[in-house]
Amino acid sequence: MQAKPYNAGIRGIGYYVPERIMTNAELAKLVDTSDEWIRTRTGIAERHIAGEGEAVTDLALRASERALADAGVSAEDIDLIIFATLTPDRIIPSAACTLQDALGAKRAAAFDLSAACSGFVYGLSVASAFIQQGVYQNVLVIGAEVLSRFVDWEDRTTCVLFGDGAGAAVVGRVPEGEGFLAFDLGSDGSGGDALDIPAGGSRLPVTGEVLAEHKQFIHMDGKAVFRFAVKVLGQTVEESLKKCDLAPSAIDWLVPHQANQRIIDSAATRLGTPPEKVVINIERYGNMSAASIPVALAESYEAGKFRRGDVIALAGFGAGLTWGSCIMKWSKEDKS
Ligand code: ACO
Repeated sequence: MQAKPYNAGIRGIGYYVPERIMTNAELAKLVDTSDEWIRTRTGIAERHIAGEGEAVTDLALRASERALADAGVSAEDIDLIIFATLTPDRIIPSAACTLQDALGAKRAAAFDLSAACSGFVYGLSVASAFIQQGVYQNVLVIGAEVLSRFVDWEDRTTCVLFGDGAGAAVVGRVPEGEGFLAFDLGSDGSGGDALDIPAGGSRLPVTGEVLAEHKQFIHMDGKAVFRFAVKVLGQTVEESLKKCDLAPSAIDWLVPHQANQRIIDSAATRLGTPPEKVVINIERYGNMSAASIPVALAESYEAGKFRRGDVIALAGFGAGLTWGSCIMKWSKEDKS
């Protein structure tokens, strides 16, 4: 295989979550549920909820400013913005374009990426390809969601699961042997109905009838998604590891999508990754879809967990259905 011209990796990272915290006890006042049910079935204790008027690009702006500062680059250094989200401010323009203006990233091209909870990993892979080929030098990848606006607050089977937040990473050139080592991406559109927002697209425009049936909100066959997730989460990491000739035992940190503690535990068991090497923050944030992985990554980095050279596995799954994983060698000095 031809040698890659450049190595790509994360040069800066940041996250932001809205101030308002909603506890399980508060939810139990809205729907027939309990703190005990939510904790034991999902691992979630609380989630952050965007304030009135706060949209996904507002959260992304804060996370992006932190990522740029961490990377030591200015907004004008950014060549491309990839915004992974399923909850954009509007259908058009893209969230990426709105962010490009808010950030002052005057030279940047910008587009949204739709791969639900796998979106951040998909975004990293696209950024990596551009950097490796020398097309761009700095790509800003965002995973951000305001799911609270797309959740049916009368449906206890979904409203207890989700939260709002944003994570951002500056992807650029890193020294040889560091940064992204391998990606594995996949999809199975035959499972699309298991997790969807039925209305608001070209298939089912929003009408009074549609609104009355709550079809503008997230619908999920929880059991089907659970079965799919348990199968695919460990499997995709194994595929990525194979591509870079590493064994599961090489993983220093597993950073999985935070949808359900039981799904994470099953992937960790399959890979033989001990609990102390698994990054988990679902208790405080719930499922933030595309934001889950970058927030977990940025929070761990800021807490001084990662050492330069650590092997980190990112793994996500979600609506589509989609999945994606990435093996990388951390190329930043630790924060501690
Ligand atoms: N509070 C109390 N009881 C509840 C609640 C609730 N919030 N929700 C459901 N129940 C009830 C059900 O009605 C059911 O009652 P029944 O037995 O009388 O019918 C019972 O609890 C068990 O429900 P199950 O659906 O079997 O519960 P399960 O253990 O499967 O957990 C859950 C449900 C948490 C949704 C689980 O299936 C899951 O995590 N699935 C995967 C979700 C996921 O990963 N989504 C990823 C989305 S990523 C993206 O792209 C956005």
